[in-house]
This record gives sequence, C-alpha cells and structure tokens, in this order.
Amino acid sequence: MSATRLLVVDDEQDLLELLVRRLKRKGFDVDSAGTAEDALELVKKNEYDIGVYDIRLPGMDGIELLKETKKVQPDIEVLILTGHGTIDTAIEAMKVGAFDYITKPYNLSELELTIGKAAENKALKEKNDSMKKIIAQHNGFNIIGDSANFKEVLEMTRRIADSEVPVLIEGESGTGKELIAKALHYWSCRADEPFVPVNSGALPEHLLESELFGHARGAFTGASQDKKGLVEAAKAGTLFLDELGEMPLALQVKLLRFLETGEFRRVGDVRERHVSVRVVAATNRDMEKEVAEGRFREDLYYRLNVVKLTIPPLRERKGDLPALIEHFIRKTKAPSKRLSSEAFAALEDYDFPGNVRELSHLIERGVLLSKGSMIGAEDLLLPHAGKTKAEAQVRLSPLCSLEEVEKVHIDNALKQMNWNKTKAADVLGISVRNLYRKIDQYGLKE
Ligand SMILES: Nc1ncnc2c1ncn2[C@@H]1O[C@H](COP(=O)(O)OP(=O)(O)O)[C@@H](O)[C@H]1O
Ligand SMILES: [Mg+2]
Repeated sequence: MSATRLLVVDDEQDLLELLVRRLKRKGFDVDSAGTAEDALELVKKNEYDIGVYDIRLPGMDGIELLKETKKVQPDIEVLILTGHGTIDTAIEAMKVGAFDYITKPYNLSELELTIGKAAENKALKEKNDSMKKIIAQHNGFNIIGDSANFKEVLEMTRRIADSEVPVLIEGESGTGKELIAKALHYWSCRADEPFVPVNSGALPEHLLESELFGHARGAFTGASQDKKGLVEAAKAGTLFLDELGEMPLALQVKLLRFLETGEFRRVGDVRERHVSVRVVAATNRDMEKEVAEGRFREDLYYRLNVVKLTIPPLRERKGDLPALIEHFIRKTKAPSKRLSSEAFAALEDYDFPGNVRELSHLIERGVLLSKGSMIGAEDLLLPHAGKTKAEAQVRLSPLCSLEEVEKVHIDNALKQMNWNKTKAADVLGISVRNLYRKIDQYGLKE
C-alpha cells in the first residue's frame, strides 16, 4: 500500500513546519498550506486521504474549507484543529462531515493516533464500496443451466477466469456468449475493474479504430479533443470484442499487434501506450471458414483462439428449459404464473433458432398474453405450433394423384411464406387470383 497522503493547513508557520516534519518522519506523504485558499488549490490538483485543518484561518476558515474540500473530494477524511475547544465549533465541524476534532494545544501522539484511525476508516470505506460494487455486479447477472452440456462450459469458464490468456467464445446468437464473457470477468481478480463491450461490426473501420484505441486532437475532422479509447477505459479489466467475425481486416492487423505487445497508439498520435487488459472475443460465425475464405486473418485467429469456449445451442440442451423458464417467469411482473404442461411440451418440441434470448422473449410475451395464472401453449405464439417450417410441411406419398400433389405443394408454399399470398403466388408462378381460386378449391386454411 502506498503512504497515506495528508494535507495539513495552519496559519501559524512554526507550528505547521513542526507538524509537517514530524508527520513526514512517521512515513506520511504530507503537503501543507498556510491558508484555506492555497489548500483548496492543492485539493483541486492532488488527491488526499486525510486533511488536518486548523479551524481559524485568515480569510476562509477551516469549516468552510472542509465543505469546499468535500465538494471536490467527497471521500477525504478531515480532522479539525480547534483552538478554543468550544463544543459549538466542534459540533459544527462534525455536522458538516469532519471525521473528528482535536483541541489545541494538542499532543502530537494523540494527533497521530487520530490520523491513523481516520486512515483506517477511509481504507475500510473504500473496501466496502468496492465490495458493494462487486456484489451489485454479481447480482446483475444470473447464469442458469444444469444440463451436462452447459455445466461443462461453466466449469471451464470458472477455471480460466483468472488467467490472462485471450478467450474466444463461439455460439449461435442468443446462446449467452456475452453472459459468459461477463462471468469470465466477474469471477476473476479483475472484477472491480471495468468490463467493456465493443461491437466489432457496428462501426465503419476508421471510427471503430478510434473508438477502440482513441484518437489525438486533430487526428481527423471533428476530433476536437484528445480522446481515450475503449482499450484504455478497460484499463486492467476486460475488453469484450463482440461479433469478432465482423471486424474489418485493416483493424485486425492493429488488434493483433495490440494482443502481442499490449501496446497501441491513439489514432493520429505517435505515443505508444500500454494497457494490460484481458481480451475476450465472441462470434457466431464459423471462424475457420472466415479464415479459409480470407475474411479473417489467420494469425489473429490463432492468437485469440488460445482457449475456446463453445456454447451449445439451446435445442441441444433442452435439459436447461425448466430452470430457464422459471428464471424468466420470475423476472416478469407476474412471477407467480406457471406454464401449462401443453405449453411446456410445445417448448420441448421447439428448436429455438434464437436460443435463450428467444426463449426469454417467448416467456415474457406468454406471461403478458395469458389471462389466468397459467400460461397456455397458445399464449406462446410459437411459429407452426412448435415445429420448424420444414417439419410442418406435409409429406407426400409417391402414390398420390397429381391433384393431391398440387394441393400439398400450394399448402407448403403458403406456410413457407407465412400465408403471404402475393409472395406465395410469386413463388408458385401463378396469379394471386388463381391462387385464391386454388385455396378455395382445395379448402386450404391458415
Ligand atoms: N444461461 C443463461 N441463464 C440466464 N440467462 C441467460 C442465459 N443464457 C442467455 N441468457 C440471457 O439471454 C439473453 C441473450 O444472451 P447473450 O449473452 O446476449 O447472448 P449472445 O451474446 O450469445 O447473443 C440475455 O438476456 C441473457 O441474459
Ligand atoms: Mg451478443
């Protein structure tokens, strides 16, 4: 731990010098001022742990200085030295946030003791704050899943959370890649540093570069100030590169260099900067294919792929459904609603192209649409009653009449187009009027 930083303010020069010398000898890092105005200048420039202010100063007094100090540095602890020992001024000092007061003439060891206590108090508060932050962050996300498949992913996540190596998370959209990236962060020693997500595909290349690495003033039109990038904002935390497969090739070179050395430059700046951020990337693309087809640099892929976490799609871990459903119902405004057994069966039959995200939306809507305490299958509005479009299509026996073939074929086309008749007619190569006639003729229904 670094030395406790003190700011001592007294207008009696001799007393001040004596005190400063003594406190320095005790290992404190001490600044001093003879007036409140000078002290305030220091407070605006430097950070202090503890202020020791004489109550009576020329110009602004000690209590006023205390108030002003707290506006700039709310966490500082201030001890007030009072010359008169009147209980009134002492109480006033405490009311505006002094840690304690000491009556002059004071005994130096007593003062040191009180400074020690204030320092301890401040350290404890800081620790508490960071604990609170961590707990809040932990409560913010809840990872549900007890299928063997998913537990394996969680197990691995825990194991590699504390390591420095980059991680590549693969999985279809909505499988929980960002959630796992957050787990990697909050389950690690970086938990009280920032978690910074970046969507690699959201911006054009030059903007993404300045977003990521920052820029110098004048680097391009509109860059009116120096700006830190997300890499610097993440500091010693985690940089989460989402949609990695969409990162422009030119930027991939710069990212590779950063991954290899921890070094980067702000756009338009010559200075090399360094951060020790952990990089976690996610993709829903087949990265080997991206590499093979020249859209993603092979060297960068290998650099990021030191550890790969693959999150299976929800349809391959239906065992997670009950717990996930309960979790998502609990998060709604009607947490006591239940799913009917038909509704559950329908979900078990469904293949969730949008994975967990889709499930959460289905449940949210189901809770809204259901009238009583039960969410029925019909409240889920599953496309094609729990089947994929392909499965919902009627299959033909080779021994049926041409008329039968036509009927089934038209029915399939309509289903495929969600009963949009203009589109279906287009696909079938007939007029819409003709399609209506056939629908009527074969008695087809939506
Ligand atoms: N195992 C899980 N437990 C609880 N919620 C989950 C789980 N997996 C995904 N979710 C939720 O589903 C949504 C999509 O997850 P997200 O991590 O954004 O997926 P991806 O990044 O893979 O598209 C989020 O709201 C997330 O909280
Ligand atoms: Mg995502």
